[in-house]
Amino acid sequence: MAKVLLTGSAGALGTTLSDRLPALGHEVVGLDLPGQGADLSVDCTDPVAVDEAVAEVRPDAVIHLAGIPTESSLPDALSSHVLTTGALLEAMRRHGVPRIVYASSNHAVGRLPRSVLLGADTNARPDTHYGVGKVAAEALLHLYVDRYGIDAVSTRIGSFLERPTTRRQLSTWLSPDDTVRMFDAALKAPSPGFAVIYGISANTRGWWDLAPGRALGYDPQDDAETYAAEVEAEPETEVDRAEGAHVGGPFATEEYERPPFD
Ligand SMILES: NC(=O)c1ccc[n+]([C@@H]2O[C@H](COP(=O)([O-])OP(=O)(O)OC[C@H]3O[C@@H](n4cnc5c(N)ncnc54)[C@H](O)[C@@H]3O)[C@@H](O)[C@H]2O)c1
Repeated sequence: MAKVLLTGSAGALGTTLSDRLPALGHEVVGLDLPGQGADLSVDCTDPVAVDEAVAEVRPDAVIHLAGIPTESSLPDALSSHVLTTGALLEAMRRHGVPRIVYASSNHAVGRLPRSVLLGADTNARPDTHYGVGKVAAEALLHLYVDRYGIDAVSTRIGSFLERPTTRRQLSTWLSPDDTVRMFDAALKAPSPGFAVIYGISANTRGWWDLAPGRALGYDPQDDAETYAAEVEAEPETEVDRAEGAHVGGPFATEEYERPPFD
């Protein structure tokens, strides 16, 4: 059984993965901030504490979910996504951990107009400080793959929810079952090197390319279309239209603009 150190284990994705990965052959050691009831209480922005945790657990892989999952100031975004990823990668290098699976986001490319099927090799186009943090974290993963030969799978997650409730989510939904399938595949894929995949279900209306994920063994089974009639029972609104303009939906709208240093 492979041992996985799972950061952000008390959160939404973390709880689902902690509960369900063991049935697929992964021993999960959860890590989260103090007071969250995780196996290990560690702030991932602290490289010394992260190093001690990795030395203690000696995992076969890291799943890195810990972070603020929405917009924040620029320093907070860089700390939450880039410094935490750097602390984990450096500890992995020091203690010989060969693989990381990272929870990136569609907001790394969220400012792209929503028009074409989006490949994983497109240029970065963040929509927020949050998106900038995810882009920089992905760059750091790539650096460690190139320099130190680790494997890093970056999953650009869409909308992790029990079910889709907006028109945009009919394209971006990632079901809990498919989340487990995706992380399991990313942990088991032979020698992925540096790989970016999109974290959505097999949505009929999906506009992010699932081929890179499928190439790693991710075989999504759910489709937001199941909920389309229910979601579309309400008339389309201005908010729906604004959210439909860019890949990042609401994050790419003016409401999400905030000063970088406040
Ligand atoms: N939920 C989504 O739809 C979605 C979409 C795209 C990307 N993501 C990414 O997936 C990851 C998990 O998202 P979520 O929805 O489960 O978020 P969440 O807020 O429910 O969980 C995040 C967890 O990380 C912990 N955490 C935050 N900062 C930490 C730190 N410095 N050290 C240790 N633990 C820390 C929190 O305590 C929390 O338990 C995030 O990185 C997020 O950006 C989520």
